[in-house]
Amino acid sequence: MLPGSDTCQVWWARTADARDELLAVLPAAERDRHRAYVRANDRALYLVAHALTRLLLAERLEQPPADIVFSRVCVHCGADHGKPLLPGSGWETSLSHSGGWVAVALAAGHPVGVDVEWIDRALDVESLRDTVLAQAEQRVLAAGPPEGFFTYWCRKEALLKATGDGLAISPARLRVSGPAEPARLLDWTVPGRPAPLVRLTDLRPDPDHVGCVAILTDRDVTVTEHDGSALLAKT
Ligand SMILES: CC(C)(COP(=O)(O)OP(=O)(O)OC[C@H]1O[C@@H](n2cnc3c(N)ncnc32)[C@H](O)[C@@H]1OP(=O)(O)O)[C@@H](O)C(=O)NCCC(=O)NCCS
Repeated sequence: MLPGSDTCQVWWARTADARDELLAVLPAAERDRHRAYVRANDRALYLVAHALTRLLLAERLEQPPADIVFSRVCVHCGADHGKPLLPGSGWETSLSHSGGWVAVALAAGHPVGVDVEWIDRALDVESLRDTVLAQAEQRVLAAGPPEGFFTYWCRKEALLKATGDGLAISPARLRVSGPAEPARLLDWTVPGRPAPLVRLTDLRPDPDHVGCVAILTDRDVTVTEHDGSALLAKT
């Protein structure tokens, strides 16, 4: 994959890939954040996601993984907690973790957002309906299996991660295609912000997780999936 090409790679890894040796590829600030997680699963997800992101970028930027510096300026308040960016590098990246999976997306030149969600079948979907879904989406969901909620959620979160807004924009302001249809943005009603041009691609790492990757472009993009566990095992 070369900078400027219309491809996006999604790399998958698991919590089971976490090993203390991977801490060596994180800078001190990320090692501190890792240590601060109380739950073992959260700590493992954090380590795997950040180590994989850094190893993938280190190869492409020809830099030691721990030396890569991300800018994380929030587009809403300017604080240091926004989308991780590598200005001037030609590379765009996004990471997500949920349940047992980590996904890291890499794109060359096009902003990218990835989301993976564990399908929590005990979740009270009703209580989140109005926050996440537009009216038309609520009608589609009511006519199908409740797991469709997670497909809507992933498509919207991937898009809002690609734009860098995150959940500072209410997902209910977006309308995407129904779970049974190919992923597409249908409507975007965010005051003062034109709808982004976006390609959405659904991901399905296993029957208990759904995912989506969003690439901000009007061009056709090829999404390929890769084994991040194998890469981590070599480190
Ligand atoms: C980004 C966000 C959607 C992530 O949701 P999540 O389901 O909890 O977590 P995921 O595993 O999918 O993604 C987390 C990763 O997204 C990335 N991220 C954080 N903020 C982001 C943003 N605004 N846009 C894109 N990506 C973002 C980070 O890499 C983060 O991982 P890290 O903190 O370990 O580095 C959510 O945390 C969010 O919306 N945060 C911002 C809220 C906000 O902007 N509030 C107003 C601030 S003024």
